[in-house]
Formats: sequence, C-alpha cells, structure tokens
Amino acid sequence: MRFDILTLFPDMMRTILDESIIGRAQKSEILEINCINIRDFANNKHNSVDDYPYGGGFGMLMQAPPIYRAYESVAQGEKPYTVYMSPQGKVLTQDKVIELSKKDRIVILCGHYEGVDERVLEEIVDEEISIGDYVLTGGELPAAVLVDSVARMVEGVLPQSESFTEESIYSGLLEHPQYTRPPVFMGREVPEVLLSGHHANIEKWKRKEALKRTYIKRPDLLGKADLTDKDRKILDEIIGELESET
Ligand SMILES: C[S@@+](CC[C@H](N)C(=O)[O-])C[C@H]1O[C@@H](n2cnc3c(N)ncnc32)[C@H](O)[C@@H]1O
Repeated sequence: MRFDILTLFPDMMRTILDESIIGRAQKSEILEINCINIRDFANNKHNSVDDYPYGGGFGMLMQAPPIYRAYESVAQGEKPYTVYMSPQGKVLTQDKVIELSKKDRIVILCGHYEGVDERVLEEIVDEEISIGDYVLTGGELPAAVLVDSVARMVEGVLPQSESFTEESIYSGLLEHPQYTRPPVFMGREVPEVLLSGHHANIEKWKRKEALKRTYIKRPDLLGKADLTDKDRKILDEIIGELESET
C-alpha cells in the first residue's frame, strides 16, 4: 500500500513513520510512504506557502497553489483517494481504518496555521478525517495516527493476523489484561490460570476478562459487540459478581 503525505514538516513525519513496525514494513516494501514537502512547490523566492485570510481574522492560511502542485506531483494525472486531516472531519474509528486499508493508495494532506484555502480542498479532497474533538497545531500527528492505524491492517505488516484480530475495539470488546515476566511484581501475582498450561481454561479466562473490562470501561461497546449466548451468560455472572463486591 502506498501513502503520499503532503506536509510542511516531512522530517517530523519520517521520524515517526520510519521507526518500528511501520519502518520495517517500508524496508520490506509492503508499504511505501512518501513525504512530500509542500514548500518545495512554493515557486517564490522565500519559499512562502501561507498568506493572510481574505476578510480578515487571526493567523495565516496555507495557500492553494503550492498544495495543488504538490498533489499533482504525486497524482500524476490520476485521482488518488485523498484525505485531509481536519478537526472538521468525521472522527476516525476502527471501521474507517479497515475501510481505508483496502485501498491501494491514499494521499494525505496535513494542514497548518489556521488551516487551508477552501478551494484546494474542494478540488482534491475526497474525505476529511479528524482524530478527535480537539485542535492540534498541524495535521502531521493526525496523519501519523491515520497511517499507523491503517498500515497495521495491511497483510504482512504485523507478524500474525491474530495480532490485531484479538485487540481492543477490532474484536468488538476491550482486550483482556496481559502479563509477562516476572511472575510476581510488587506483591502482585500473575493470575494462576495463565501459568497452568490449560489451554481451554486460559481461553475461558481471557474471554471473561475481556467481557468484564468492556462492561466496566466501555459498556457502550457491548451493545454493538457480536456476543454469543454463552457470552451473555458470562456477562450476567460478571454483573452478579461485581454487584456482590459492592
Ligand atoms: C490549528 S488547526 C486549524 C483549525 C481550523 N482553523 C478550524 O477551526 O477548523 C491546523 C491544522 O491541524 C490539523 N488538525 C488540527 N486538529 C486536528 C484534528 N483533531 N484531527 C485532524 N487534524 C487536525 C488540520 O490539518 C488543520 O488544518
């Protein structure tokens, strides 16, 4: 899968995306991530890409022409799916991440300053995506969030498909608590069942803990989760246990 990120801070993007799993996936050519510096398309002596907003108001706006030229340099006559990272967009969810991971390529535009001239958004953007209801100084961190979340759904990026299918949200529930060595930390022991080697009991424990966590931390997810009759029975058991504790 290919990502072309249009940004004023390509080094910031590379610092994040060239590390760890996403960095390795680029080396093994499962992912191609290009960071295009919009300033390279400024076409003026000072490489300036921003200007005052018409009608007045605070701050500066990114101008349309350099962004469009940067876009054209990667689009090369095609119309690649283009996302603008924006607090005005729909908030990113795992369902959207899965949908985007099916695309061969995505162009991502990162805004800065007070935002971007509307006309270039109308011209090139298919979708605006927000990473949450708060405002950041630029689209670079949101773009990194989008690339990371989408890329890890791409086959071959993670070592095993189980790595994400059992994870929180993707599975419909929050993941059960996890432990590694040492077996005792500050007097807290790893649940005995995890050391038992009894596969069926371990799986049962994991499912119950996932249901319990979800019930306690994100009960809203239970309404949408694909629960079996057995799960519902376990959930009743959990609710009974929790009520008797209080
Ligand atoms: C300071 S913000 C501009 C906000 C804009 N004036 C508004 O009110 O909608 C600068 C840039 O950061 C990015 N950005 C800020 N918050 C974001 C969020 N929650 N999700 C995605 N991108 C965001 C966008 O690319 C935006 O153009």
